[in-house]
Amino acid sequence: MTPKEYNSDVEALRQKEYPHMSDGVYLDHGGATIYARSLVEGFASKMITNLYGNPHSENSPARLSGDVVDQVREKLLGFFGASSKEFDLIFVANATAAVKLVADCFRDLGEKTKDGKFWYGYHKDAHTSIVGVRELTYGQFHCFENDQEVEDWLQYPENAFTNRQNPNGLGLFAYPGQSNMTGRRLPLSWSYRARHSESLQGTYTLLDAAALAMTYPMENIFHDPDRAPDFTCFSLYKIFGFPDVGALVVRKESGHILALRKYFGGGTVSMVATFGDTPWHRSKGLQAPTYKLHEGLEDGTLPFHSILALGEAIDVHLRLYGSMRTISAHTSYLIDQLYRGMAGLRHANGRPACHVYSENRDFGNSSKQGSAIAFNMISSGGGYLSYTDVERIANSAGFYVRSGGVCNPGGIFSLLGYEPWMTERALSAGHHCGSNGISVLHGLPTGIVRASLGAMSTRHDVDSFLDFLRTTFVDTADKENSPLSATSTLRSFPSDATLGRRATFEPVIDIVPGTRKLECEKPRIRRIPILSHLRRAPKPGLRSSSLPAKNLTGGLPTIR
Ligand SMILES: Cc1ncc(COP(=O)(O)O)c(C=O)c1O
Repeated sequence: MTPKEYNSDVEALRQKEYPHMSDGVYLDHGGATIYARSLVEGFASKMITNLYGNPHSENSPARLSGDVVDQVREKLLGFFGASSKEFDLIFVANATAAVKLVADCFRDLGEKTKDGKFWYGYHKDAHTSIVGVRELTYGQFHCFENDQEVEDWLQYPENAFTNRQNPNGLGLFAYPGQSNMTGRRLPLSWSYRARHSESLQGTYTLLDAAALAMTYPMENIFHDPDRAPDFTCFSLYKIFGFPDVGALVVRKESGHILALRKYFGGGTVSMVATFGDTPWHRSKGLQAPTYKLHEGLEDGTLPFHSILALGEAIDVHLRLYGSMRTISAHTSYLIDQLYRGMAGLRHANGRPACHVYSENRDFGNSSKQGSAIAFNMISSGGGYLSYTDVERIANSAGFYVRSGGVCNPGGIFSLLGYEPWMTERALSAGHHCGSNGISVLHGLPTGIVRASLGAMSTRHDVDSFLDFLRTTFVDTADKENSPLSATSTLRSFPSDATLGRRATFEPVIDIVPGTRKLECEKPRIRRIPILSHLRRAPKPGLRSSSLPAKNLTGGLPTIR
């Protein structure tokens, strides 16, 4: 099936299964994708025709829940192409909880080692939730600044500078399968390389698949357990839209490393003595094979209603889309179209209107790029527009994107050209993560706008967003000599919106004597292409005609 044929199938599907998506164009699938109508109906029907109890009890409703949990665990492993002989799956709240579970286990085990800690390495493209693990290492961590550094370390672990006293000691290397900022996909061979490195026998790998799994066939990773990561984490709402649960897939051969954690809770312990001088307990995790790995790691009552919904979600997803391979081809085609359209946006004076952040610019290649794109808009005078303004204007016109640091501190500051001292300067100037930060500082943006696509995105979504960007942010008249462009220009302006090389992006702002520097240009608002359905049924907060500039540009402070 060609991408075009598939697209028309999805257009039809959208009307039937996603009526709740008809108000606006949803472009934040990287945040959460959208659930299908059949999933909600199927789940509701099961909830009102059966009686589900707490699976820790033994009565019939409890057993029904327990059976559902077992079946869905197996079903989800099957969906990922992971054999239950080789892998176990632990239900958690979300990807962050999965990462934290692994990190807690390593900290507890690390305390038993000679130097009392484990080593942790992570890639600079990692999500904040991966970065935070370093705080459990008592300073023994290293951030790999690029792929080549990882390759060098894997080849010569002893030689590489990784802030590690003993390369053979206990270690964990974590990285994202896909950057949640740029959508870049990272090499999947690193787990195998680490496993087969003689010097890294104590080092385990954690793959953060939260962003990757949304549009990637995970069977590519799990079909050969020897090539699979030891631990892989997921946020399942990013794949199915609902329910809001996560999973940690553990390679059974490596699972014993998680059995040594100290904490126990209801469900993960087989016996506890609370009184007396020497209270004791027996964790289920340490009693393999009597207990399965997941029984020692799932503290408390599982979200069994959500797991019921997950079973429905998998069935509906497979029925609607067939396989992740078709989704991957479809989203790859769409993101490439979006990228090409953005790269082609130019002001009348010939300057690019959009800076796309990309290290490979290979958007049509699904082994290198997922379905997200990070960018900033640039005025015809050469200054960056505030990403917060861009998001707000887009939102008012019914286009739902995300902007800011998107929880990817390393990716943001390396691609935007920040050095560590500049990050500190930004903090001292009052910038911080989140929606109230300062969007442009000293001429450099502190974040990006991210558009991300999902299985049910269509060509129409992409085209209308490009249309919106063009009609809103692209100058059709040459404003070369306007006061705005005279006070704020990038002397070495990129010759191509897609040339992300930092050297060509060092912003040097020309100052007109007697005027204050304009680091953040206010977008001049022109006609906003309001979608026809919004015109029919305006929502509170959504304007149905052109937008008054004062509401759109009075955003965040800019600082020099
Ligand atoms: C790559 C990546 N890792 C981790 C997370 C954290 O996911 P959650 O907030 O569901 O724990 C996200 C969320 O966007 C992500 O994209």
